Amino acid sequence: MDVLDAIYKRRAVRQYRPDPVSRDQVRQVIDAANQAPSGLNRQPWEFIVVSGNKIPAMGKSYRSTLTEYLNNWEASPMSRSLNRDEFIRFSETYGGAPFVIVLHVKTDPVPNFQKADLESASAAMQNLLLAATALGLGTCWMTGPIRDEKTLREILSIPADHEIVAVTPLGYPEKNPPAPSRLDPELKEKVRWVD
Ligand SMILES: Cc1cc2nc3c(=O)[nH]c(=O)nc-3n(C[C@H](O)[C@H](O)[C@H](O)COP(=O)(O)O)c2cc1C
Repeated sequence: MDVLDAIYKRRAVRQYRPDPVSRDQVRQVIDAANQAPSGLNRQPWEFIVVSGNKIPAMGKSYRSTLTEYLNNWEASPMSRSLNRDEFIRFSETYGGAPFVIVLHVKTDPVPNFQKADLESASAAMQNLLLAATALGLGTCWMTGPIRDEKTLREILSIPADHEIVAVTPLGYPEKNPPAPSRLDPELKEKVRWVD
């Protein structure tokens, strides 16, 4: 798949089929992430590939952060693509995906380096999402689970000197949500041309 196709086809997938995903496929998407550009070529990203019983443990933790969000469900942008029960299932099981990938970086005490490392890790994350799309796999960039960071660190043995950047389920999509509309599709406000 052409990279532009992947960019336009990628969606935040919250419902997955139970079909297995091979370790080779997981390796392929992480290898694509590992090709991202990085500040000072530090390549700071690290990945944890989670499967089995650890996923419902992570789901219990994520679900515990959502009480207020679920109480205001109708106001949530998510309510346009799935119903409240479907979102609860997503939170508890990561949508039934066979793998969840957690991206983290070692914390750098120098703020500029830490900023560059987070930006580099974000580039890696987007590479991962696009590579997954190209392979017919679904993902959902998530930072919500980090709200219960202590539990997440305990479940996955993430050391205190590492910052958790993002989490994504990985699996075959059960449903691909429609693309949300763009805020400025004509790019009239977001772009300023300077001659
Ligand atoms: C930094 C970041 C954090 C996000 N956190 C969550 C999250 O915690 N839970 C979730 O369901 N979706 C999360 N999303 C997915 C967004 O809700 C989704 O990208 C957005 O609604 C646009 O939909 P699209 O990805 O299909 O274009 C996150 C996305 C980004 C980039």
